[in-house]
Amino acid sequence: MIEVVQGDITALAVDAIVNAANTALLGGGGVDGAIHRAAGPQLLAASRALGGCPTGEAKLTPGFRLPARWVIHVVGPLWRGGRHGEPALLENGYRRSFELALEQEARSIAFPAISTGVYGYPKRQAACVAVGVMREYEPRFERIVACCFSADDARLYQEVLERGVPGDETPEDAPESGP
Ligand code: APR
Repeated sequence: MIEVVQGDITALAVDAIVNAANTALLGGGGVDGAIHRAAGPQLLAASRALGGCPTGEAKLTPGFRLPARWVIHVVGPLWRGGRHGEPALLENGYRRSFELALEQEARSIAFPAISTGVYGYPKRQAACVAVGVMREYEPRFERIVACCFSADDARLYQEVLERGVPGDETPEDAPESGP
């Protein structure tokens, strides 16, 4: 089941939370900073030992002081206008996060809106990519949480979830063409 939650991902008691990290994996601002603060200093030591992570890829550490057992650090693409492979990199980041969670037999996972903060990815386009991959992995998890920090983001995710991701409409439920 996919659910939209508004709030702080560090408080969620799920098996794995996903961190919107950078290639150095040494912490940062945004959700990266929040997760490191909540997990404690062992997270930085564990992240440092990973030796960085390429954009579009993900790596796993324990959650330490977090309620979540695992943190999956994913590096989303910096938005550069959309013609530098950003959608494919973002999609791969979600997919790799799910695959790492499955390797640990995680049954619940929560994602922030990767790349839509500092990295400037347009929110709706990012939500469509995210929901498309979430739908693909939905049968293999008990809970998939889209954890939105703002009410606007939560409304956007709810809308994308209800409307479906463009391109996966079946003819009968495709929106009426305008007048
Ligand atoms: N819980 C859930 N979501 C959060 C939280 C939180 N505690 N804090 C921020 N967010 C949301 C932001 O509102 C945004 O919607 O996470 C989303 C991703 O924003 P960023 O954290 O800025 O991540 P991103 O855009 O992927 O940029 C990554 O920012 O913090 C640095 O080290 C990080 O260099 C990397 C870059």
